[in-house]
Amino acid sequence: MCGIVGYIGNREASPILLSGLKRLEYRGYDSAGLALIEDFPAIAENGQRHSGIHAVGRLVVEKCKGKVTDLEAMAADHPHHATIGIGHTRWATHGAPSDVNSHPQTDESGRIAIIHNGIIENYSHIKDRLLARGHTFKSETDTEVLAHLIGEFYVDGRSLTEAVRLALNEVVGAYGIAVLAADAPEEIVCARKGSPLVLGVGSDNENFIASDAAAIIAHTRQVIYLADNEMATVTRAGIKTRTISNVEITKPVEVIEMELEAIEKGGYDHFMLKEIHEQPRTITDAMRGRVVEEEGNIVLGGLQSHLDELRQAKRLILTACGTSFHAALIGKYMIEQYARVPVEVEYASEFRYRNPIIEEGDVMFGISQSGETADTLAAMREGKGKGALALGIVNVVGSTIARESNGGVYIHAGPEIGVASTKAFTSQLTVLSLLTIMLGRMRHLSVVDGRAMIRKLLEIPEKVQRTLESTERQIRELSDTFKNASNFLYLGRGYNYPVALEGALKLKEISYIHAEGYPAAEMKHGPIALIDENMPVVVVAPQDEVYEKVLSNIQEVRARKGHVIAIATEGDEQIGALAEQVIYIPATLSMLTPILSVIPLQLLSYYIATARGCNVDQPRNLAKSVTVE
Ligand code: F6R
Repeated sequence: MCGIVGYIGNREASPILLSGLKRLEYRGYDSAGLALIEDFPAIAENGQRHSGIHAVGRLVVEKCKGKVTDLEAMAADHPHHATIGIGHTRWATHGAPSDVNSHPQTDESGRIAIIHNGIIENYSHIKDRLLARGHTFKSETDTEVLAHLIGEFYVDGRSLTEAVRLALNEVVGAYGIAVLAADAPEEIVCARKGSPLVLGVGSDNENFIASDAAAIIAHTRQVIYLADNEMATVTRAGIKTRTISNVEITKPVEVIEMELEAIEKGGYDHFMLKEIHEQPRTITDAMRGRVVEEEGNIVLGGLQSHLDELRQAKRLILTACGTSFHAALIGKYMIEQYARVPVEVEYASEFRYRNPIIEEGDVMFGISQSGETADTLAAMREGKGKGALALGIVNVVGSTIARESNGGVYIHAGPEIGVASTKAFTSQLTVLSLLTIMLGRMRHLSVVDGRAMIRKLLEIPEKVQRTLESTERQIRELSDTFKNASNFLYLGRGYNYPVALEGALKLKEISYIHAEGYPAAEMKHGPIALIDENMPVVVVAPQDEVYEKVLSNIQEVRARKGHVIAIATEGDEQIGALAEQVIYIPATLSMLTPILSVIPLQLLSYYIATARGCNVDQPRNLAKSVTVE
């Protein structure tokens, strides 16, 4: 989704903003822009310029539809000397991607520039008011309306901070914003409600603003996270924070641990491929320090103060979107089988608006890689507001869901840059497995069973490594055969039904091939009508409790001339006679098979998409973290 970067200091702002925007490219965007206040040294009486003295600066805006490299070329053609500026990558919401709809947007007078992530819901009402007052608008964006509204308040000697604050008091919706004004060339004002903002504290009279720490960690690791309804005035000398209702606040400076290599490709062609290959390590990281093998038990630090509530929980509600929702579905199967607690799984976007019933003893888990997904956050707030204990299973440290939850577990997968989620999914499954063992041990699971499950779990990273090594070449070749298919069907049962959903999602989002995931036995209730000699059918069929049933489903596909690609357990010869292609994964506990069976499906979508020439790291129309409804 949209990205924000801001800089004020003594260095040239443009290169810092452009490199920050490049770090945010992975979030998905369709246009980019910069606003800078050019240094205008004051002119002394003798006509000589005094360098370094700021009077009223000149606000310049460079923006265009397209990539950051297009903006970079534009900035190179029009060099501006500025040590203060803001930069944006836009993911269109109001108004199609175009030069004019790109951010920054300016106010009526052209002296204020704003960049904005989120949606101003009452923008048309505000716009009507401003039109009646004679304003004219160039773009179709809600952001331009906010710029004009700030301009209306930026009169009578009011500070920029106060003008922004008063304008925000009239706004309904979500925003992360950064604002510049030509006649306030010593400050950037920023604010947040529902869209993340982090402030970077520099060491040499410079400070930074970003929607994602990845944009600024090359410069500083000291950060201040703004919370909802907070704003900041950022100058060279420091950062002043207050609430939007005008109460000054002191925020802690925190240190981020993210390493720079973690947000670079490290020799791989794409972040997605790098992240697929990182999984043996990221799964290990998700377990690190949490396993007490001897006791057959698990210690999850972020849940320690809620053990009684978890022990007494009558129902768990897992809520999430997209890939994280698929992890939640698998979590339900695990927890119900081993901990015997009823689990409901619900799309966060549905949960938040349907007046869900929350009762005493309900514990909610919001599962989110980014920790910023608007629907998941809103669902968590809804559940929490109705009295549920709200816990998070989150990747991004310090993200909003992590901060607003009553507790939770980090999955520690490290930054996931590829838009298609891969390593976060297997780390979510690993954490859900740990949670299952922990909840099970609180109830019916014996120490012996707990130990046996832990041993199987500890073997998983090595088995993932083996799967990667033994299947990648075969899948690359296979991808060439199927790259021109128009449709794919993915089937699985039990624990591997959500894996079928995930395989189909991965394929469609990065290769743009239509793909459907189904519980294998449901095929005969409709989708079987689609099967003919042109339909590749990926069947996830490890040797688990439903294996024989899945073999029958494969027969049904073969009888209709569908091409079967099976994901099967090493040593399974029977399936070779039925499927056209068999991709083998190591044997493990049924509950853990999804962590292995999804690996070939990730690779399959990656290689089909690259064979079709698709940009897998930045698929069309998609954004990494969906911070709007
Ligand atoms: C798919 C994908 C999305 C996300 C979904 C939720 O590859 O990445 O479906 O899983 O947008 O995002 P998080 O987990 O950040 O809440």
